Amino acid sequence: MGFTVAEKIIRNHLKTGQLERGREIGLKIDQTLTQDSTGTMAYLQFEAMGVDRVKTKKSVAYIDHNMLQAGPENADDHLYIQRVAKKHGIYFSKPGNGICHQVHLERFGVPGETLLGSDSHTPTCGGIGMLAIGAGGLDVAVAMAGGEYFITMPRIVKVELKGRLNPGVSAKDIILEVLRIYGVKGGINKIFEYCGDGIKSLTVPERGTITNMGAELGATTSIFPSEENTYRFLKAQGREKDFIELIPDKDAYYDEEIIIDLNKLEPLIACPHSPDNVVNVTSIEGTKVNQVAIGSCTNSSYMDLMKVAEILDGKTIAEDVSLVISPGSKQVLNMLAQNGVLGKLISSGARILECGCGPCIGMGQAPNTNGISLRTFNRNFKGRSGTVSANVYLASPEVAAVSALTGCITDPRKYVNKLSIDMPEIFIVNDNLIVEPAEVDNNIEIIRGPNIRPFPKNKPLGRRIREKVLIKVEDNITTDHIMPSNAKLLPYRSNIPYLADYCLTPCDSEFPKRAKEYNGGIIIGGHNYGQGSSREHAALAPLYLGIKAVMAKSFARIHKQNLINNGILPLVFQDESNYDDIDLLDELIIEDILNQIKKDMVIVKNKTKATEYKLLLDVKDRQRKILELGGLLNLMNFQNK
Ligand code: F3S
Repeated sequence: MGFTVAEKIIRNHLKTGQLERGREIGLKIDQTLTQDSTGTMAYLQFEAMGVDRVKTKKSVAYIDHNMLQAGPENADDHLYIQRVAKKHGIYFSKPGNGICHQVHLERFGVPGETLLGSDSHTPTCGGIGMLAIGAGGLDVAVAMAGGEYFITMPRIVKVELKGRLNPGVSAKDIILEVLRIYGVKGGINKIFEYCGDGIKSLTVPERGTITNMGAELGATTSIFPSEENTYRFLKAQGREKDFIELIPDKDAYYDEEIIIDLNKLEPLIACPHSPDNVVNVTSIEGTKVNQVAIGSCTNSSYMDLMKVAEILDGKTIAEDVSLVISPGSKQVLNMLAQNGVLGKLISSGARILECGCGPCIGMGQAPNTNGISLRTFNRNFKGRSGTVSANVYLASPEVAAVSALTGCITDPRKYVNKLSIDMPEIFIVNDNLIVEPAEVDNNIEIIRGPNIRPFPKNKPLGRRIREKVLIKVEDNITTDHIMPSNAKLLPYRSNIPYLADYCLTPCDSEFPKRAKEYNGGIIIGGHNYGQGSSREHAALAPLYLGIKAVMAKSFARIHKQNLINNGILPLVFQDESNYDDIDLLDELIIEDILNQIKKDMVIVKNKTKATEYKLLLDVKDRQRKILELGGLLNLMNFQNK
């Protein structure tokens, strides 16, 4: 039997295990990326490993999340990351060079290689035929130190695209359709592999839009083959030497299959407050909008913004709409500036922001109270925009641009009669905002601002856990709930003691106080606990507050691994009705914990209710060892002894 594209890359990078679904495999990682929000912690952890130079082929540190410098904190973090990068052999992408995923696709992505990034949208580079996976900062630090990255061998979903998109329908609608079918939990432990004649009309940046937002499925990653379109893109970036052809074998086996007929696809939109809350644009046409935001790592490519400019050309945005546009990279902005299209955007009344994440991570441009914001981004969780009462919709650049003109959600097909913009034969390449690492130089001084505090470390498991329930939360709690990341808090990403005071406060403002009062405890969660970003802070802040275990109905992949990496037990209710039985401040006991974690089932006694529950510890042997030792760093130190 033949292999899929993902299987071919996995086979070439397999260090531990076999290509058997559901089994743990260890992969060699060729490239890593970090961004500033997760990067400081990842590099502090990397430094703690005592490794001089990264062992990867290429590692890149980006500054894109928080570039506001209202105080010294961000500038201090940027300087710390820049120095660490220079010293340890890492490329540094300066603020203003663009969003990590957009720039990585343009300048670093290589078909057939593996990429591990401390950002959940790392799968963007699946658009260029990489096996690109989002992970916590500690996993990325381990990969930089030459360690394997362990995952459960995913099931592979064949997504066959047929036909061609109609004018006004775009790559964003393809991924919204997949989200409509699978939902935000439907991709857990799966790789979505795209194929079919429909992919021929999709450029690499369009493919990147699809693989980027595949993260919202909870998938391990998404990937496209590497073929002539990949070659064209690499050649236009002056990197044709990086091309290899990588296509699935004719007799490749897929675990699941879906077919999407692009000819029949309509413009889609994700309604508040979940990316899978997808409906046809026509069904909510006429809804007034206050803000339109175009950009993010999902839709900020040159072609995206060229389409927007074409729609806005010679027109003025609606009186009640604020339109903000963030180009994805300096390359994109530079090209728009040089071909004069930037002038069209500005003339329409658009506000041009820096090349960075900006409003996507709540860094400015928070909508008005109860406002309606239409965005080309990938997430619309409640409060992520910076305005808790805002309603955020997610759609394509075409829907966003046309709606900015009409002032209400509008089907773009009435206004767009051309197929998508052609990719240029050549992109403007100017990498002067990418700082190359130094040759080995032990004199490079690492500068740590006062805001950079040590990260919390866990201790090996004791004999038993006896703790209070400190909070009980609903289904689909995101890492944005667990560790909010907004304009006020983002400057403190390297200061866990400070951040911990905001941990889970969108769910319960008293939680941090309670955790400190009881000196730690247990979190009770619903389904898909920890969905969303790769943010390791969502495990580090609970660790700092003394959380020993999270008992939930189910977990999101990256967050579960982050909990394990920090020595926090992720336990799953075998009988979901037990969730209803547990109340705040119930006292829970796990006896003989060291023996119990050797098995798949853990007995948790509820002393308050005089009952007990069975919880699954669905982890691999290596993860049991990590939990026993109190975290991945302790395991690494243990192995190095
Ligand atoms: Fe940045 Fe938003 Fe993407 S925060 S990395 S643009 S999901």
